Amino acid sequence: MFTSKEIRSTFIDFFKDRGHQFVPSAPVVPIGDETLLFINAGMNQFKDIFLGMTKPDYTRAANSQKCIRVSGKHNDLEEVGLDTYHHTFFEMLGNWSFDDYFKAEAIEWAWELLTKVYSIDPDKLWATVYEGDQTDGSDPDHEAAALWTKVTPIPKERVLYFGKKDNFWEMGASGPCGPCSEIHIDLGPDMCDRKHVAGHKCAVNSGCARFIELWNLVFIQFNRLGDGTLEKLPARYIDTGAGLERIAAVLQNKQSNYDTDLFMPIIDAIADLTGHEYTSSLES
Ligand code: SER
Repeated sequence: MFTSKEIRSTFIDFFKDRGHQFVPSAPVVPIGDETLLFINAGMNQFKDIFLGMTKPDYTRAANSQKCIRVSGKHNDLEEVGLDTYHHTFFEMLGNWSFDDYFKAEAIEWAWELLTKVYSIDPDKLWATVYEGDQTDGSDPDHEAAALWTKVTPIPKERVLYFGKKDNFWEMGASGPCGPCSEIHIDLGPDMCDRKHVAGHKCAVNSGCARFIELWNLVFIQFNRLGDGTLEKLPARYIDTGAGLERIAAVLQNKQSNYDTDLFMPIIDAIADLTGHEYTSSLES
């Protein structure tokens, strides 16, 4: 079994072996960025690089970023406490390419790490890509869809197209952005928490706990300006984000992120202090 510490170090080492520089997590209060209240993604500290305003000494990086999502564009507050896999504070594992490798390597390495190193059953994994949007003329990402079946053994039927809400990632109201490709895991019919909802059908992005997003691969190519228009960036970048807590739940065979070794020591201490026994969120 992987401990959360091992999941984190394995991720960083995997990308170090592929030429990535380790970059420590930035503080959760942004430095010199008035567009964000809190750091909400691993890419925030690299924003100026994406915008071409600064050049790093490296073209590949890997990190584990502490994130807070309680406001703004990526606000998870309404989900927290209602499901087993959203948090106000969480850690995002990421690998980065600054005008170096692009979609093929990002997809191939994410698949390799999940299935060969973490040994997640490949038959449980699904991929999604951007379907484009007629209102702003953005193209469907057929390239990413084709790469999924070229550089990984995933069958075509498990590569699905979705719209802007799920497959076009933006940092905030403005800033670097681009189409993205997500990896979801099917945890099996027993994990559905919407059986009571009339008409519910378990599926990727259907909102039930059976299908969970594990990793988001963003192909950053644009800057959203303050007036809402998209400006093409002079270079292409890879920004990925994998949820440490979610991967821990999968690898530790837990039904809830709260039951992993990331939360249990805190929950056990609270149980001791208060004299109340903790029952798993799914049993209570
Ligand atoms: N920026 C993307 C996200 O937050 C991938 O890292 O999901």
